[in-house]
Amino acid sequence: MATRRAILWTGVGGVALMGAGLGALLHSDLSEARAPWRAVGAGFGDKRLDALSYAVLAPSPHNMQPWLIALDDDDNALTLYCDLDRRLPETDPQDRQIVIGLGAFLEIMRQAAAEQGYALEVDAFPQGAAAPRLDQRPVATVRFVKDASAAKDPLFAHIPARRTSRVPFDQGRPVSADILKALDSVLRPEDGEFEWANDAENISELKRICRDGWIAEVGAPGPHRESMRLTRIGEKEINAAPDGISLAGPVMEGLHFAGVLTREKMSDPDSVANVETINFYNGLIDSAMAFGWLSTAGNSRTDQLRAGAGWVRLHLAATQRGLSMQPLSQVLQEFSEMAEYYEEIHDFTGIRAPQGPRDGRLQGLFRFGYGATPAPAPRWPLETRLIAADA
Ligand SMILES: Cc1cc2nc3c(=O)[nH]c(=O)nc-3n(C[C@H](O)[C@H](O)[C@H](O)COP(=O)(O)O)c2cc1C
Repeated sequence: MATRRAILWTGVGGVALMGAGLGALLHSDLSEARAPWRAVGAGFGDKRLDALSYAVLAPSPHNMQPWLIALDDDDNALTLYCDLDRRLPETDPQDRQIVIGLGAFLEIMRQAAAEQGYALEVDAFPQGAAAPRLDQRPVATVRFVKDASAAKDPLFAHIPARRTSRVPFDQGRPVSADILKALDSVLRPEDGEFEWANDAENISELKRICRDGWIAEVGAPGPHRESMRLTRIGEKEINAAPDGISLAGPVMEGLHFAGVLTREKMSDPDSVANVETINFYNGLIDSAMAFGWLSTAGNSRTDQLRAGAGWVRLHLAATQRGLSMQPLSQVLQEFSEMAEYYEEIHDFTGIRAPQGPRDGRLQGLFRFGYGATPAPAPRWPLETRLIAADA
């Protein structure tokens, strides 16, 4: 008798083949959603917009792109806000990951301004920082100061090539300690501390913790509902809303066309779509060739902004060296269903706040390896992120 599992596999295999067969008809044209990657350095006629055209390529949790920018009248300054509607109240209940994304945004803006001969004076949370949730007060005020000696950053050149990698990594290519040390060397003291593991025993334990955390996230009703709400399936949905979790390509379009891959089906834990999603992510975790983690001594809003700078610097340094990187953030998240694994990863790394062996907070956990380069992720165009100065 065929098991239920076998039927699921046969079903998805058949539909995937059909999807691939229809590929010519159903390919995803995401050129609209990817347009901001081609618009960088296009010359907006304003140094701030030129720098911002790079900053919108920053990584952010669930690709939420939580930035809103008000340009000052005097053409040397701007104010950065968080778009409070673009937060993730279920998976990121303290807005910590959202602030990390905003920190990455500021760091890329800084690098792009330096290319034009400007240093940035950044005043973080000038009216105070709200916790545990952000409020409408500014995240930062930023002043562009002409400074011919502003050092250009060698990482800048790699911004357009940076990708979050969601492909399995090559099992024949280990990640050397030398390359992980080279990543560490791009961090400035205020960016946080980077540690890693590339030996079989620690990798195996970290894979187990990450898998457990991933299953806990999928099984947590609130975070799962949030992820479903933010999933965009196929070209039409992605071009209309170039953010969230995007599922694209001939097979995805085929599965969507066949009615196998829909938000409703993914909400059913036993559906083919859900089982395959779980298997897919487990496969990514299992192919890790090394892990790295970024921690900060405290967990203030400013610490989180700085961790965002460190995060994107590590990723750019990896890109520079042809090394792929994917955050695996599940076990660092603060919702109640994750508590056990949150404890476990802090125990494993020896980083704990406030009474543990080492004060601190894990801000990022990443898998590393070598694999195919994915296409750029969708982005909202810069002009959609600008707001009036008195907003
Ligand atoms: C704080 C933070 C947490 C993230 N966590 C994950 C994660 O757990 N898994 C994952 O695949 N990507 C994660 N990402 C990557 C984002 O999904 C990614 O930046 C976004 O989709 C845009 O893609 P890009 O980085 O290729 O430009 C995270 C990014 C940030 C900034």
